Amino acid sequence: MTVDRLLPTPEAHDLLDLTRELATRELAGKVDDFEARGEFPREVLRTLGRSGLLGLPYPEEAGGAGQPYEVYVQVLETLATTWLSIAEAVSVHTLSCLPVAYFGTPEQRKMLPDMLGGELLGAFALSEPQGGSDAAALTTKAVLSSSGDWEVTGTKAWITHSGFADFYNLFCRTGGPGPKGISCLLADAGTPGLSPQQRERLMGLRSSAPAQVVLDAARVPRDRLVGAEGEGFAIAMKALDAGRLGIAACAVGLAQAALDYAASYAREREQFGQPIGRFQGLGFMLADMGTQISAARALLITAARLKDAGRPFSIEAAKAKLFATDVAMKVTTDAVQVLGGAGFVSDHPAERWFREAKVLQIVEGTNQIQRMVIARSLLG
Ligand code: CAA
Repeated sequence: MTVDRLLPTPEAHDLLDLTRELATRELAGKVDDFEARGEFPREVLRTLGRSGLLGLPYPEEAGGAGQPYEVYVQVLETLATTWLSIAEAVSVHTLSCLPVAYFGTPEQRKMLPDMLGGELLGAFALSEPQGGSDAAALTTKAVLSSSGDWEVTGTKAWITHSGFADFYNLFCRTGGPGPKGISCLLADAGTPGLSPQQRERLMGLRSSAPAQVVLDAARVPRDRLVGAEGEGFAIAMKALDAGRLGIAACAVGLAQAALDYAASYAREREQFGQPIGRFQGLGFMLADMGTQISAARALLITAARLKDAGRPFSIEAAKAKLFATDVAMKVTTDAVQVLGGAGFVSDHPAERWFREAKVLQIVEGTNQIQRMVIARSLLG
């Protein structure tokens, strides 16, 4: 179904048209094969980068496209209707560019055109094996060595693009315990002592490539500190606020794909002498799916507009991520139900979307963390 969108400019309409065209030409024919083999589509991302899709919300003077978040999230949504792993990769890459774009030194910012053009793929290394939700407790340590470089030791976990990324944002402890002891370092993939591990075997989103990154006295040049020492946790949180809008957009796109497929199936499939969608039980189910998706999209766009207006948006981003990903889980579950047995076999994409929706309730802050953020804002 074509979504009736109120976009802010004619340019935004052209961008959405371009995204749909790229999705049809570059993604649709590859998704099944790549997901079945669990292959990471690095070349596809390069193509999207050359088409300008990997730096959309960053200023033009930095090499980005200067698009508002309101538009960027709808581009992500459109990609996600065709291939969630690609939309998630674009979202994580965009998140990974944020520390340098907004906190980097002039020298670090010289990398931005290649980052935002997609020649350099990014990773955001915050989580660790013993702590994902409690990010302020991270233990990866960075100390200034006698040579003047940072020496980084520890293990990062669930790092999207690990092994494929060209640069890593390493959130490390450079001071005492708690959030104020954390700094952000920008490490090149070739950093001695930085070793991506074997990729995780995932339930869904199999073309995505998370893996651990082991840092064994990895040497990062002193001038690769991003922001001030001790500012790393605040940088990570600001990046994640924006990243959560990206995950919400992925969820809306995935849910829309599942609804469109289920509705089309319900129009074609006949039982008891009529299309199954004519039975009220299924018709109402489809109506609820459509309503939930519209509500999730509205919440997402409201949060994105707050960000575009320079207003606080953390709480609205948490609500959008929470609601949209819960909707994606519900809608993909119901899509399987509408298809019946056909929903449970891999001849149809519904079972893949169902598996993929689950991870969206977990990544970039579990939905329990989002509820915690929202509850704290209500209770003070
Ligand atoms: N923006 C700016 N600053 C923020 C902030 C935000 N959104 N949220 C918190 N801070 C600041 C606070 O103001 C506080 O600073 P002050 O003391 O100066 O006021 C400081 O950070 C500590 O804040 P909290 O006391 O709220 O910190 P907390 O330890 O209670 O944790 C949390 C808060 C929200 C639970 C946070 O730990 C969190 O978001 N956890 C989830 C982490 C997460 O999403 N991880 C997924 C990462 S994705 C990844 O690594 C893989 C990948 O490939 C992308």
